[in-house]
Amino acid sequence: MIRPFNKTHIPRLPNLEFDWSQAGSLPITLEIGCGDGEHALQFVHQNPQIFMIALERTNAKFQSFSKKLKNLASPPANLMATQADAIHWCAHNLEKGPMLSQIFLLYPNPYPKKKQANLRFVNMPFMGFLLEHLKPGGLITIATNINDYYLEARRNFLKTWGLEIYQETLISPSSMPRTAFERKYLARGETCYNLVLKKP
Ligand SMILES: C[S@@+](CC[C@H](N)C(=O)[O-])C[C@H]1O[C@@H](n2cnc3c(N)ncnc32)[C@H](O)[C@@H]1O
Repeated sequence: MIRPFNKTHIPRLPNLEFDWSQAGSLPITLEIGCGDGEHALQFVHQNPQIFMIALERTNAKFQSFSKKLKNLASPPANLMATQADAIHWCAHNLEKGPMLSQIFLLYPNPYPKKKQANLRFVNMPFMGFLLEHLKPGGLITIATNINDYYLEARRNFLKTWGLEIYQETLISPSSMPRTAFERKYLARGETCYNLVLKKP
C-alpha cells in the first residue's frame, strides 16, 4: 500500500511558477529527467501540435540542454525546459494547469537496491499525484535497460495504479537512439525495454 502524496510537505521553490498560457490550447506532454534534452528536442520538432514541458534536476545535464537550445536559430515555441526536481515542479504547478496527455520517463535512475524501492518512480506516492493529472486515455512511457526495473514497473503500474498496457517493445539495436542513455546501452549491446501504459 503506497501512502497518499502530501504536497504540503514539498517546499515551494522560487521561480518555478509556470505560466500555462505559454502552452495555449495545445495538449501537454511532460518529460521527467530529460537529461541533455535530446528526446525533448526531437519530440517537439516532430510534434509541433503538442506542447512539451521538459524537466531535469541536475545542473550539468540541464546546462548541456540549455546550450543546445541557445544554439538553435529559433527555439521551439512548443517547449518549456526547466531545471527543476519534477516532484517540486509538479506539486506546485500541475493543479493550476490542464491535464497532461502524455508523460515520458526515459531511463530514470534505477535505484536498484531493495532498500531504495521507495525511490523508484512507480513506488512513489508522487506517482499517484502525477497520474491524477494524466487525462483518461493519456499515456505514460517508461524505458529502462534493467529487467527487474521493467518487471516491477509493469507489475505496479497495472496493480497499484490501475493502468493498462498500451504497447510494450524492446528497442531495436538498429533504431536511432532517443536519448544519450539509450545510445550508451544499445552500443553496449544491452536490452532496452520500452513500456507504454494507458490510463483507462
Ligand atoms: C539515467 S539519467 C537519463 C537521462 C535521459 N532521460 C537519458 O535517457 O539520457 C536520469 C535523469 O533523471 C534525472 N532525474 C532523476 N530524478 C529526477 C527528478 N525527480 N526530477 C527531475 N529530474 C530527475 C537525473 O538528474 C538524470 O539526469
